[in-house]
This record gives sequence, structure tokens and C-alpha cells, in this order.
Amino acid sequence: HRFLQPINLFEYEKLAKEHLSQITLDYYNSGAWDEITLRDNRAAFERLKLRPRVLVNVSDRNLTTSILGQPLQLPLLIAPMAFQCLAHPDGEIATALAAASAGVGMVLSTMATKSIEEVASACDNFSDSLRWFQLYIHKDRGLTRGLVEKAYKAGYKALCLTVDAPVLGQRERDRRNEFALPPDLHLANLATISGLDISHEKGESGLFTYFAQQLNPAVTWDDLEWLQSLSPLPLVIKGILRGDDAVRAVEYGAKAIVVSNHGGRQLDGAIASLNALAEIVAAVDGKIEVLLDGGIRRGTDILKALALGAKAVLIGRPILWGLAVAGQVGVSHVISLLQDELNLAMALSGCAKLQDIDPSLLILPRL
Ligand code: FNR
Repeated sequence: HRFLQPINLFEYEKLAKEHLSQITLDYYNSGAWDEITLRDNRAAFERLKLRPRVLVNVSDRNLTTSILGQPLQLPLLIAPMAFQCLAHPDGEIATALAAASAGVGMVLSTMATKSIEEVASACDNFSDSLRWFQLYIHKDRGLTRGLVEKAYKAGYKALCLTVDAPVLGQRERDRRNEFALPPDLHLANLATISGLDISHEKGESGLFTYFAQQLNPAVTWDDLEWLQSLSPLPLVIKGILRGDDAVRAVEYGAKAIVVSNHGGRQLDGAIASLNALAEIVAAVDGKIEVLLDGGIRRGTDILKALALGAKAVLIGRPILWGLAVAGQVGVSHVISLLQDELNLAMALSGCAKLQDIDPSLLILPRL
């Protein structure tokens, strides 16, 4: 079977189709409405061209970095993604173990199918691994407080507040499929608190219904003070696409932001995250760390994001494809493919270390 092993993330995408039901595939791969933003995330990377530097000594390459003071083996985190047990019975535990053993970060979703504590204790052997908890704010404030307290107690190192989903985007395939969790899976972080679960509603995605009923679309910047009072955890804000919002995030105490359009799953027609990056990096002016996600599929994509000023990137769907194909081993392989590609791309562009990756590598888009 060895020679059939995928050699890039696109081959994982194809192979994953053989391991997932159509409904799960649709849920994982969909974007909102016409999927314009979903396609644009990729197109933006493909359009941006590199200006390699030559005759640089690249015999020793160093891909290590740090985020919020925590070391990483490469500038990569796994994006928060709901319902990973749909891909593999080990779900978020397999993902977290693959991330920890590769020395990359992992963000656990509020909507995970393994609990905050289960994931943390599975990674006991990796004491300095970077693990954050992603937060959706429920209408029930006590429930949100409970999640924050559990994440803090279990050793997660930051709260990653997702701000691009006051309500859920409309993913039409999920609506058609009346997407819902199968009865053997549940929201591991929510069921124990309140007995909530994703129910099936006619003509609608169960997730869409859940968001409409349970999550709080009234959250504003002023709620960030309350959120930060619940624990000493630093706040990371995910889902910023404008310079002025980035500046506000700094003002309201965020320690990092993730430039993201939620993988094209929220507002269709929103700017490709890569195209939003330069404006945001300029606006933030080095005050906090800027991360990016959306459409990262190649090592050169990471190179381009870093050249535009991102400190690291997050990847989403390819992790689910790896998980579907081979559980933890598949996720590890997806990470190592990206690591090898970034390593090679750095050598070919004249960068021995991440600090060498600068805007001069790009034909810069005009702001
Ligand atoms: C997501 N994303 C997401 N984001 C978040 O903050 N909380 C969540 O629970 C989820 N759930 C989720 C499920 C699935 C199936 C996908 C594909 C995505 C968005 C995710 O964190 C990230 O922003 C994008 O997936 C990044 O884009 P790529 O790498 O998938 O193109």
C-alpha cells in the first residue's frame, strides 16, 4: 500500500471521499451560499507570486517559532473544527495527539465531540504543547463561564473567541441534508452542563438551528472585559477581516488575532483572508501577533502568509481529511507533508529561517 500514500494535501482530499459519508463530506467541505469566498481563499494564494532570493546559504533551515511565548516546531496550528468524531472514532483526541507530537498548536472547538478534559489528559505526555480552547458565547452566561473555567483548569493556554459567527452562515448542502449529529455522538463540552444536543429540525441543518437557539448574537466588544474576567487566560480573537477591527481587538486587550473568514463558511462574498492580511498587519503595527487561516494547502501558502506578516497559520479541512483516512497517523502525515513543503519552499526562496521570510519575497498587493 505504501506507494499509494498521499504525497500532498489534495490527494488527502480525494482519498477522504472514500472514508466519509456524503453528509459528513458536505458538512466538512462546504462553504456558505455560492462558495465564492471558499474559492477565493485558494485563488488568493494562487495569484500571489514569489520573488525568490538566490545564492543564500540555506544548508541549515530552522522552522521553529513561538506564539504567545510558547514554542512551536513550525508556524502551524490546527484550526478549531467541530464534530471530529464524524471523521474518526478518536476524533479530537487523535488530532490533539498528532499536533502535540509534531510540536504544532491545536485549538479545540466548543463544538467538539471529545471533552476539554479528555483531550487534555490524552496529551499528558506533552507538557509544553500549545493547546487553546475556542469559544462560542452561549446565551446562557453560566454555561460560557463553565467552559472557560474547565479550559483553564485543564491547562489550555488561551481562549480563542470566534467573532465571525454571531449566527451560523447558510451552508446549503447542510440545509438540504438536514445535517445533524448521529445519535452516538454528542457535544462533549455541552451535554454534561445542560443536556443540550443538536436536534434535527425539518428543512434545516441541525447546527444552524442550534446556533439560532443557543448562541448569543448580541455579543459586542464591551463583553470582552467580562470574558477576560473569567480567567487569567489570554484572549485570541478569530475572524477579523478589517484593520479597524484589528485595532479594536488590540485596544480591548486581545493578545493575538486570527485573520479568517471561517474557511468561507460564514459571510459569502467576504474578502479572501490572505487579501485582508496586509491591511491588518499594518494596522496592528506589531502590537500583537497576527495569525491567518483559510485555504492553506501548500508549504508555499505558509511562506506567502508569513511574508505578508502573519506569525503563523492555522489549517482546517486538510486535518479532517487526514483524520478520516488514517486517524492520528493521517493527521501526523498531513502535518509532516506541510512541514516538508515549507522547508523546501524556504530553501528555494533563499530563506534559512522564518525571520528571513519578508515582504520583499512578494509582489505586494496595493493596499
Ligand atoms: C470550522 N471552523 C470553525 N471555527 C471555529 O471557530 N469553531 C468551530 O467550531 C469551527 N468548526 C468548523 C468545522 C468545519 C468542518 C470546518 C471546515 C471549519 C472554521 C475553522 O476554524 C477555520 O477557520 C477554517 O476551516 C480554515 O479554513 P480551511 O483551512 O479549512 O480552508
